[in-house]
Amino acid sequence: MNVKPIRPLIDNYGRRIRKLRVSLLDACNFRCVYCMPLNPVFMDSSRWLRPDEIEKVCSTLVDFGLEQIRLTGGEPTLRDDFRDIVLRLSTLSLDKLGLTTNGWNLTKELDFLNDSNCKHINISLDSLTKEIFNRITKRDYLDKVLDSILSAKRLGFHVKINTVLMRGINDHEIFDFIKFSAEHDVEVRFLELMSIGQVSGSKDKLFVPASEVIQMISSREELTGEQSKCDSTSFNFKTSSGASIGFIASETLPFCHNCSRWRLSADGFLRVCLMSEKGIYIRDTVPEDYKLILNELLKMKPYRKIERVEQDMYKIGG
Ligand code: 5AD
Ligand code: SF4
Repeated sequence: MNVKPIRPLIDNYGRRIRKLRVSLLDACNFRCVYCMPLNPVFMDSSRWLRPDEIEKVCSTLVDFGLEQIRLTGGEPTLRDDFRDIVLRLSTLSLDKLGLTTNGWNLTKELDFLNDSNCKHINISLDSLTKEIFNRITKRDYLDKVLDSILSAKRLGFHVKINTVLMRGINDHEIFDFIKFSAEHDVEVRFLELMSIGQVSGSKDKLFVPASEVIQMISSREELTGEQSKCDSTSFNFKTSSGASIGFIASETLPFCHNCSRWRLSADGFLRVCLMSEKGIYIRDTVPEDYKLILNELLKMKPYRKIERVEQDMYKIGG
Protein backbone atom coordinates (compact mmCIF):
# COMPACT_ATOMS: atom_id res chain seq x y z
CA MET A 1 0.00 0.00 0.00
CA ASN A 2 1.27 3.44 -0.82
CA VAL A 3 0.85 6.47 1.38
CA LYS A 4 0.09 9.71 -0.47
CA PRO A 5 3.28 11.66 -1.12
CA ILE A 6 3.82 14.51 1.26
CA ARG A 7 6.02 16.62 -1.00
CA PRO A 8 6.20 14.97 -4.41
CA LEU A 9 9.27 15.54 -6.53
CA ILE A 10 8.00 17.09 -9.73
CA ASP A 11 10.26 18.88 -12.19
CA ASN A 12 9.51 21.74 -14.59
CA TYR A 13 8.50 19.30 -17.30
CA GLY A 14 5.92 17.68 -15.06
CA ARG A 15 7.95 14.53 -14.51
CA ARG A 16 7.50 13.07 -11.08
CA ILE A 17 10.30 11.04 -9.49
CA ARG A 18 8.72 7.79 -8.33
CA LYS A 19 11.52 5.30 -8.76
CA LEU A 20 15.03 4.92 -7.41
CA ARG A 21 17.70 2.47 -8.47
CA VAL A 22 20.07 1.84 -5.63
CA SER A 23 23.47 0.46 -6.56
CA LEU A 24 24.84 -1.46 -3.58
CA LEU A 25 28.34 -1.83 -4.96
CA ASP A 26 30.08 -1.51 -8.31
CA ALA A 27 31.77 -4.92 -8.10
CA CYS A 28 30.48 -7.93 -9.97
CA ASN A 29 31.72 -11.45 -10.52
CA PHE A 30 30.72 -11.38 -14.21
CA ARG A 31 32.55 -9.47 -16.92
CA CYS A 32 29.83 -8.79 -19.47
CA VAL A 33 31.48 -7.35 -22.56
CA TYR A 34 29.26 -4.28 -22.75
CA CYS A 35 29.48 -3.49 -19.06
CA MET A 36 33.03 -3.74 -17.80
CA PRO A 37 36.63 -4.25 -18.86
CA LEU A 38 38.39 -7.54 -18.11
CA ASN A 39 40.30 -5.97 -15.25
CA PRO A 40 38.00 -3.41 -13.69
CA VAL A 41 39.02 -1.30 -10.72
CA PHE A 42 36.25 -1.37 -8.14
CA MET A 43 35.70 1.24 -5.46
CA ASP A 44 36.96 0.39 -2.00
CA SER A 45 34.24 -1.16 0.12
CA SER A 46 34.90 1.44 2.82
CA ARG A 47 33.16 3.94 0.54
CA TRP A 48 29.91 2.00 0.32
CA LEU A 49 26.94 3.52 2.05
CA ARG A 50 26.17 1.51 5.16
CA PRO A 51 22.76 -0.18 5.46
CA ASP A 52 21.52 2.51 7.88
CA GLU A 53 22.65 5.24 5.47
CA ILE A 54 20.89 3.59 2.55
CA GLU A 55 17.78 3.27 4.67
CA LYS A 56 17.98 6.93 5.66
CA VAL A 57 18.25 8.22 2.10
CA CYS A 58 15.51 5.92 0.87
CA SER A 59 13.08 6.64 3.67
CA THR A 60 13.60 10.38 3.20
CA LEU A 61 12.84 10.01 -0.50
CA VAL A 62 9.73 8.01 0.35
CA ASP A 63 8.60 11.10 2.29
CA PHE A 64 9.04 12.95 -0.99
CA GLY A 65 6.82 10.54 -2.88
CA LEU A 66 9.19 7.77 -3.92
CA GLU A 67 7.19 4.61 -4.64
CA GLN A 68 9.60 2.04 -6.01
CA ILE A 69 13.14 0.95 -5.25
CA ARG A 70 15.26 -1.47 -7.19
CA LEU A 71 18.57 -2.77 -5.87
CA THR A 72 21.32 -3.08 -8.46
CA GLY A 73 25.09 -3.27 -8.68
CA GLY A 74 27.45 -4.45 -9.94
CA GLU A 75 26.00 -7.57 -8.39
CA PRO A 76 23.99 -6.60 -5.28
CA THR A 77 23.92 -10.06 -3.72
CA LEU A 78 27.71 -9.95 -3.34
CA ARG A 79 27.44 -7.63 -0.35
CA ASP A 80 27.72 -9.42 2.99
CA ASP A 81 25.08 -7.10 4.40
CA PHE A 82 22.72 -7.60 1.45
CA ARG A 83 20.04 -9.12 3.68
CA ASP A 84 20.28 -6.35 6.26
CA ILE A 85 19.73 -3.79 3.48
CA VAL A 86 16.74 -5.68 2.05
CA LEU A 87 15.17 -6.03 5.50
CA ARG A 88 15.56 -2.33 6.21
CA LEU A 89 14.05 -1.32 2.87
CA SER A 90 11.24 -3.84 3.40
CA THR A 91 9.98 -1.67 6.24
CA LEU A 92 9.41 1.31 3.93
CA SER A 93 6.03 2.12 2.48
CA LEU A 94 6.73 1.23 -1.15
CA ASP A 95 4.63 -0.11 -4.01
CA LYS A 96 7.51 -2.19 -5.17
CA LEU A 97 10.90 -3.32 -3.94
CA GLY A 98 12.92 -5.10 -6.61
CA LEU A 99 16.29 -6.56 -7.34
CA THR A 100 18.34 -6.69 -10.53
CA THR A 101 20.87 -9.50 -10.44
CA ASN A 102 23.05 -11.63 -12.67
CA GLY A 103 21.42 -14.62 -10.95
CA TRP A 104 24.61 -16.56 -10.34
CA ASN A 105 23.94 -17.23 -6.67
CA LEU A 106 20.35 -16.23 -6.25
CA THR A 107 18.97 -19.61 -5.21
CA LYS A 108 20.52 -19.26 -1.78
CA GLU A 109 18.77 -15.90 -1.24
CA LEU A 110 15.32 -16.92 -2.45
CA ASP A 111 13.84 -18.19 0.83
CA PHE A 112 15.10 -15.07 2.56
CA LEU A 113 13.70 -12.79 -0.15
CA ASN A 114 10.40 -14.61 -0.07
CA ASP A 115 9.99 -13.54 3.55
CA SER A 116 10.92 -9.94 2.71
CA ASN A 117 9.06 -7.38 0.58
CA CYS A 118 11.46 -7.83 -2.31
CA LYS A 119 9.33 -9.79 -4.73
CA HIS A 120 10.35 -8.41 -8.13
CA ILE A 121 13.49 -9.92 -9.56
CA ASN A 122 15.07 -9.02 -12.88
CA ILE A 123 17.75 -11.42 -14.02
CA SER A 124 20.23 -10.71 -16.81
CA LEU A 125 20.50 -13.51 -19.32
CA ASP A 126 21.97 -12.81 -22.73
CA SER A 127 22.20 -16.34 -24.07
CA LEU A 128 20.66 -19.75 -23.55
CA THR A 129 23.72 -21.55 -24.84
CA LYS A 130 26.78 -22.16 -22.71
CA GLU A 131 29.34 -21.12 -25.27
CA ILE A 132 27.76 -17.77 -26.03
CA PHE A 133 26.84 -17.10 -22.41
CA ASN A 134 30.47 -17.68 -21.47
CA ARG A 135 31.70 -15.50 -24.30
CA ILE A 136 29.50 -12.58 -23.20
CA THR A 137 29.90 -12.85 -19.43
CA LYS A 138 33.37 -14.46 -19.35
CA ARG A 139 31.97 -16.86 -16.78
CA ASP A 140 30.69 -20.44 -16.88
CA TYR A 141 27.52 -19.94 -14.87
CA LEU A 142 24.67 -20.50 -17.30
CA ASP A 143 23.30 -23.47 -15.34
CA LYS A 144 23.31 -21.54 -12.09
CA VAL A 145 21.51 -18.60 -13.67
CA LEU A 146 18.87 -20.86 -15.25
CA ASP A 147 18.40 -22.60 -11.93
CA SER A 148 17.87 -19.23 -10.25
CA ILE A 149 15.29 -18.16 -12.81
CA LEU A 150 13.27 -21.35 -12.55
CA SER A 151 13.50 -21.53 -8.76
CA ALA A 152 12.37 -17.92 -8.41
CA LYS A 153 9.43 -18.61 -10.72
CA ARG A 154 8.51 -21.71 -8.75
CA LEU A 155 8.45 -19.68 -5.53
CA GLY A 156 6.08 -17.16 -7.09
CA PHE A 157 8.39 -14.17 -7.55
CA HIS A 158 7.69 -11.70 -10.34
CA VAL A 159 10.60 -12.58 -12.59
CA LYS A 160 11.78 -10.78 -15.70
CA ILE A 161 14.70 -11.69 -17.88
CA ASN A 162 16.83 -8.90 -19.36
CA THR A 163 18.47 -9.81 -22.65
CA VAL A 164 20.80 -7.34 -24.34
CA LEU A 165 20.77 -8.15 -28.05
CA MET A 166 23.99 -7.94 -30.01
CA ARG A 167 24.24 -8.55 -33.74
CA GLY A 168 26.19 -11.63 -34.69
CA ILE A 169 26.53 -12.67 -31.06
CA ASN A 170 23.12 -13.59 -29.65
CA ASP A 171 20.52 -12.19 -32.07
CA HIS A 172 19.98 -15.63 -33.60
CA GLU A 173 18.56 -16.73 -30.23
CA ILE A 174 15.53 -14.45 -30.27
CA PHE A 175 13.10 -17.30 -31.00
CA ASP A 176 14.79 -19.53 -28.42
CA PHE A 177 14.10 -16.83 -25.84
CA ILE A 178 10.50 -16.63 -26.99
CA LYS A 179 10.17 -20.37 -26.58
CA PHE A 180 11.78 -20.14 -23.16
CA SER A 181 9.33 -17.43 -22.14
CA ALA A 182 6.29 -19.46 -23.22
CA GLU A 183 7.59 -22.68 -21.70
CA HIS A 184 8.42 -21.22 -18.32
CA ASP A 185 5.87 -18.42 -18.18
CA VAL A 186 8.56 -15.81 -17.66
CA GLU A 187 8.74 -12.38 -19.27
CA VAL A 188 11.75 -11.76 -21.49
CA ARG A 189 12.73 -8.18 -22.24
CA PHE A 190 15.00 -7.48 -25.17
CA LEU A 191 17.24 -4.49 -24.49
CA GLU A 192 18.82 -2.35 -27.14
CA LEU A 193 22.54 -2.03 -26.58
CA MET A 194 23.17 1.41 -25.10
CA SER A 195 26.14 3.68 -25.84
CA ILE A 196 27.62 3.42 -22.41
CA GLY A 197 31.18 2.82 -21.27
CA GLN A 198 32.70 -0.21 -22.95
CA VAL A 199 30.56 0.13 -26.07
CA SER A 200 30.12 3.91 -26.15
CA GLY A 201 32.20 4.39 -29.27
CA SER A 202 31.81 1.06 -31.00
CA LYS A 203 28.25 -0.01 -30.54
CA ASP A 204 27.10 0.37 -34.17
CA LYS A 205 28.21 -2.97 -35.53
CA LEU A 206 26.57 -4.82 -32.64
CA PHE A 207 23.43 -2.75 -32.39
CA VAL A 208 20.04 -4.33 -33.16
CA PRO A 209 17.10 -1.91 -33.17
CA ALA A 210 13.92 -3.09 -31.45
CA SER A 211 11.88 -2.35 -34.59
CA GLU A 212 13.90 -4.94 -36.50
CA VAL A 213 13.28 -7.56 -33.82
CA ILE A 214 9.56 -6.81 -33.73
CA GLN A 215 9.36 -7.13 -37.49
CA MET A 216 11.22 -10.41 -37.41
CA ILE A 217 8.96 -11.85 -34.72
CA SER A 218 5.78 -10.61 -36.42
CA SER A 219 6.67 -12.60 -39.52
CA ARG A 220 6.24 -15.79 -37.50
CA GLU A 221 3.91 -14.90 -34.65
CA GLU A 222 1.00 -12.67 -33.90
CA LEU A 223 1.88 -9.95 -31.40
CA THR A 224 -0.72 -8.44 -29.09
CA GLY A 225 0.32 -5.20 -27.40
CA GLU A 226 -0.09 -4.86 -23.66
CA GLN A 227 -0.90 -1.70 -21.80
CA SER A 228 1.94 -0.15 -19.84
CA LYS A 229 2.37 2.84 -17.54
CA CYS A 230 3.56 6.04 -19.22
CA ASP A 231 6.84 5.99 -17.28
CA SER A 232 7.51 2.36 -18.06
CA THR A 233 10.84 1.74 -19.74
CA SER A 234 9.54 -1.17 -21.79
CA PHE A 235 6.66 -1.86 -24.11
CA ASN A 236 5.27 -5.35 -24.01
CA PHE A 237 3.53 -7.95 -26.11
CA LYS A 238 2.03 -11.38 -25.81
CA THR A 239 2.94 -13.66 -28.69
CA SER A 240 0.59 -16.18 -30.25
CA SER A 241 2.83 -18.95 -28.91
CA GLY A 242 2.16 -17.76 -25.36
CA ALA A 243 5.34 -15.81 -24.65
CA SER A 244 5.48 -12.49 -22.78
CA ILE A 245 8.06 -10.24 -24.32
CA GLY A 246 9.10 -6.65 -23.84
CA PHE A 247 11.42 -4.19 -25.48
CA ILE A 248 13.60 -1.57 -23.88
CA ALA A 249 14.46 0.61 -26.83
CA SER A 250 16.56 3.17 -24.99
CA GLU A 251 18.39 4.17 -28.17
CA THR A 252 15.69 4.32 -30.84
CA LEU A 253 12.70 5.23 -28.64
CA PRO A 254 14.14 7.03 -25.62
CA PHE A 255 11.70 7.58 -22.79
CA CYS A 256 13.44 10.58 -21.17
CA HIS A 257 10.35 12.80 -21.47
CA ASN A 258 8.45 10.41 -19.19
CA CYS A 259 11.34 9.29 -17.01
CA SER A 260 10.54 8.99 -13.30
CA ARG A 261 13.88 7.66 -12.12
CA TRP A 262 16.86 8.70 -10.13
CA ARG A 263 19.83 6.53 -9.20
CA LEU A 264 21.88 6.26 -6.03
CA SER A 265 25.46 5.07 -6.41
CA ALA A 266 27.13 2.77 -3.91
CA ASP A 267 28.98 5.73 -2.36
CA GLY A 268 25.99 8.00 -2.09
CA PHE A 269 25.96 10.01 -5.31
CA LEU A 270 22.36 10.77 -6.19
CA ARG A 271 22.34 10.90 -9.96
CA VAL A 272 19.47 12.20 -12.01
CA CYS A 273 19.94 10.24 -15.22
CA LEU A 274 21.74 7.16 -16.49
CA MET A 275 23.37 9.12 -19.31
CA SER A 276 24.30 12.28 -17.42
CA GLU A 277 27.02 12.56 -14.84
CA LYS A 278 25.13 15.23 -12.94
CA GLY A 279 24.11 14.66 -9.36
CA ILE A 280 24.93 15.41 -5.74
CA TYR A 281 26.63 13.42 -2.97
CA ILE A 282 24.04 13.13 -0.26
CA ARG A 283 25.72 10.88 2.27
CA ASP A 284 26.15 13.67 4.78
CA THR A 285 23.06 15.67 3.96
CA VAL A 286 21.18 16.68 7.10
CA PRO A 287 17.36 16.47 7.06
CA GLU A 288 16.94 20.28 6.97
CA ASP A 289 18.91 20.49 3.72
CA TYR A 290 17.13 17.74 1.84
CA LYS A 291 14.46 19.93 0.32
CA LEU A 292 16.99 22.34 -1.12
CA ILE A 293 19.18 19.58 -2.52
CA LEU A 294 16.30 17.66 -4.04
CA ASN A 295 15.12 20.82 -5.75
CA GLU A 296 18.61 21.27 -7.21
CA LEU A 297 18.53 17.69 -8.46
CA LEU A 298 15.14 18.18 -10.10
CA LYS A 299 16.66 20.99 -12.18
CA MET A 300 19.55 18.79 -13.34
CA LYS A 301 17.53 16.06 -15.01
CA PRO A 302 17.90 16.28 -18.79
CA TYR A 303 14.76 16.27 -20.90
CA ARG A 304 16.30 15.09 -24.13
CA LYS A 305 18.38 12.01 -24.54
CA ILE A 306 22.12 12.35 -24.08
CA GLU A 307 23.71 10.31 -26.84
CA ARG A 308 26.49 8.56 -25.03
CA VAL A 309 28.30 8.31 -21.74
CA GLU A 310 31.92 7.24 -21.37
CA GLN A 311 31.56 6.00 -17.80
CA ASP A 312 31.22 2.22 -17.48
CA MET A 313 27.81 0.79 -16.63
CA TYR A 314 29.00 -1.05 -13.53
CA LYS A 315 30.19 2.26 -12.06
CA ILE A 316 26.86 3.96 -12.67
CA GLY A 317 24.73 1.07 -11.47
CA GLY A 318 22.96 -1.19 -13.92
N1 5AD B 1 23.28 -1.61 -22.97
C1 5AD B 1 22.14 -2.24 -22.62
N2 5AD B 1 21.96 -2.86 -21.44
C2 5AD B 1 22.99 -2.88 -20.60
N3 5AD B 1 23.10 -3.43 -19.37
C3 5AD B 1 24.33 -3.16 -18.90
N4 5AD B 1 25.04 -2.42 -19.80
C4 5AD B 1 24.21 -2.26 -20.88
C5 5AD B 1 24.35 -1.59 -22.13
N5 5AD B 1 25.47 -0.95 -22.50
C6 5AD B 1 22.02 -4.21 -18.78
C7 5AD B 1 22.45 -5.46 -18.06
C8 5AD B 1 21.35 -5.65 -17.05
C9 5AD B 1 20.66 -4.30 -16.98
C10 5AD B 1 20.58 -3.75 -15.62
O1 5AD B 1 21.38 -3.43 -17.81
O2 5AD B 1 22.51 -6.56 -18.90
O3 5AD B 1 20.43 -6.63 -17.44
FE1 SF4 C 1 27.84 -7.79 -13.80
FE2 SF4 C 1 25.47 -6.94 -14.73
FE3 SF4 C 1 27.73 -5.77 -15.53
FE4 SF4 C 1 27.21 -8.23 -16.34
S1 SF4 C 1 25.99 -6.39 -16.81
S2 SF4 C 1 29.19 -7.49 -15.56
S3 SF4 C 1 26.20 -9.08 -14.59
S4 SF4 C 1 26.93 -5.75 -13.47
